[in-house]
Amino acid sequence: MNTEVIAFANNKGGSGKSTSCSSVAAALAKQGKRVLCVDGDMQLNLTLSFFDEEQAFAFAKSEHNTYTLLVKDAPARACIRKTPYENIHLLPSSTLMSGVEYELFTKWQRETILRRALEEVRTSGDYDYILIDAPPNLGCLVMNILACADHLIVPLEASPWGLFGLANMFDFVESVRSINASLSLLGVLVTKVDTRKNYYKQTIEDLGRLEGVHVFGEVIRLDSSIEWAQDNSKPVVFYRPSSRASKEFATVAAEIIALCEKK
Ligand SMILES: Nc1ncnc2c1ncn2[C@@H]1O[C@H](COP(=O)(O)OP(=O)(O)O)[C@@H](O)[C@H]1O
Ligand SMILES: [Mg+2]
Repeated sequence: MNTEVIAFANNKGGSGKSTSCSSVAAALAKQGKRVLCVDGDMQLNLTLSFFDEEQAFAFAKSEHNTYTLLVKDAPARACIRKTPYENIHLLPSSTLMSGVEYELFTKWQRETILRRALEEVRTSGDYDYILIDAPPNLGCLVMNILACADHLIVPLEASPWGLFGLANMFDFVESVRSINASLSLLGVLVTKVDTRKNYYKQTIEDLGRLEGVHVFGEVIRLDSSIEWAQDNSKPVVFYRPSSRASKEFATVAAEIIALCEKK
């Protein structure tokens, strides 16, 4: 099997990108897939999904993380850490990523730095999936993330403002196609669904009207297990395997495998 690189991106913050990225990684790993997670956000949320704060800050201050990979030419292999979970490795982020837009600006071929930096790892066959968590904007770093991805998953919060800005996101994806023609929109994943309110049905209906946009068959409902898992620096799929969220992410992971293998 080829290594499939999947970006989790949405310019809206709080839409469930980091939660989906870590949970899908855990669900894929449970299904026997070898996964590398890449934390592309200065908020370190993906790193904190696998490690406690002390360890995350130690990674952030070290010479080996997403920041040093992009800005200081650190070799990708040296930046990859084993997590406590079988089949999941992590390339952690750094708080220095706050200045990465400025630093990338002066670099040669600045949109494809991440793609070139991960090339050796991507083609090594060591991983079935590389999942990249993007920050909530449409800047040069997100351009890099999409330039390096085969697929994009857009986690989207089921709320009135969840869809706001989605058109900008899709325009941005179109502009990335000039440097990465094969980027596919794997699907929109509806998250944080509150089934006590009917509003989420409106979100799904609105998404259904978008031509050529696949919406994942499973939605992720609000589940406090996710918050407890994050508070304990563990993906929910490992922290509370019997939770509703864990089952939903297992279904999403199975759909991702099916979509990628259908290609
Ligand atoms: N299904 C869910 N149920 C409950 N809380 C959730 C759920 N998904 C995400 N959250 C919470 O919502 C917040 C934003 O999620 P996050 O994954 O960090 O979004 P993003 O990475 O897009 O900013 C986090 O505090 C997270 O704990
Ligand atoms: Mg995030």
